[in-house]
Amino acid sequence: LARPHQLHIGAAIDLRFLLDDPDYTDILEKDFDVVVAENAMKMDATEPQQNEFSFGLGDLLAQYAEKHNMLLRGHTLLWHEQVPRWITAGTWTAEQLEAIMKNHIQTVADHFKGRVFAWDVVNEAISDAGGMRDTLWRKTLGDDFIARAFQYAHQADPAAKLFYNDYSSEALTRKSDDVYALVKSLKEKNVPLDGVGMQMHLNLNNPPSMADIAQNMKRLADLNLEVHITEFDVRSAGFPGTAKERNEAMAKLYSDVVTVCLQARNCTAFLTWGVADNHTWLPGDAPLLYDGFYNPKPAYFAVQEALKQP
Ligand code: G3I
Repeated sequence: LARPHQLHIGAAIDLRFLLDDPDYTDILEKDFDVVVAENAMKMDATEPQQNEFSFGLGDLLAQYAEKHNMLLRGHTLLWHEQVPRWITAGTWTAEQLEAIMKNHIQTVADHFKGRVFAWDVVNEAISDAGGMRDTLWRKTLGDDFIARAFQYAHQADPAAKLFYNDYSSEALTRKSDDVYALVKSLKEKNVPLDGVGMQMHLNLNNPPSMADIAQNMKRLADLNLEVHITEFDVRSAGFPGTAKERNEAMAKLYSDVVTVCLQARNCTAFLTWGVADNHTWLPGDAPLLYDGFYNPKPAYFAVQEALKQP
């Protein structure tokens, strides 16, 4: 599927499959030119004990990407989930937690320097109810921890593109307005920020408006920000109709979003959150391009068609 000159197409990788499933790697090498670790480069995986870093799995993915001439997205330097227990179980002064945040970000970004082309520096800092999410980072460090996280990442790897990543931020909603306000403020403060990751975990029963997504991408383009669609998948449990109708509706949604991305001047990557339905984070659903037996679904062929657009 990958059309590098147009749009980088990729997927989140479960390292267990990378290591021992040739059907899985055949798909990666046929279809994708960008990969991201589903879990292996998160805080709990990379710094399981204070100042003791573990990069084995991330290095495996980086080596695989390099061998197959793929780009590697880094996910994620700072998040309120999958924070190692030595941090969540501790009580920290602002100075101590700032040092922990800075050391984590700079050690990880430095380790993957030159191999990660884009980082999700901060993930999901905006709350669903509006405003900043009340996380350990925000409560202890204040709202401008986000600006400092990006500065630390830029100091460690000046060449990497730095993204703010969030979900339910694709259409024109209060949450996407809050994301827009956040990144506009960061840009105005000359914080090193290159783009916004729209995760796009969508639901076939309540799809977003494509016009909204296009307008949201345009206002970010007007801030000179790139957009990556970072974690695309489509829940369809409960969708009324036959399996055929469900597959056709899913194919249209995948195709419509790829088309919106191709037509936006700043949308440069489209990644699904997983490769096939046998290892999605949404067990019991069928949100991806390949089914549980590695057969391409109608959505796969719809994306292939959409990518043929001039
Ligand atoms: O590593 C442990 C393992 O040691 C243990 O035996 C096992 C059973 O408890 O759990 C393993 O950790 C699991 C981890 O994935 C690694 O497999 C966690 O329980 C599980 O909760 C975790 O789920 C991940 C989830 O993020 C965590 O919030 C999903 O695989 C992953 O797809 C999902 O990805 C997130 C993105 O990072 C951010 N956007 C939302 C997206 C979906 O939640």
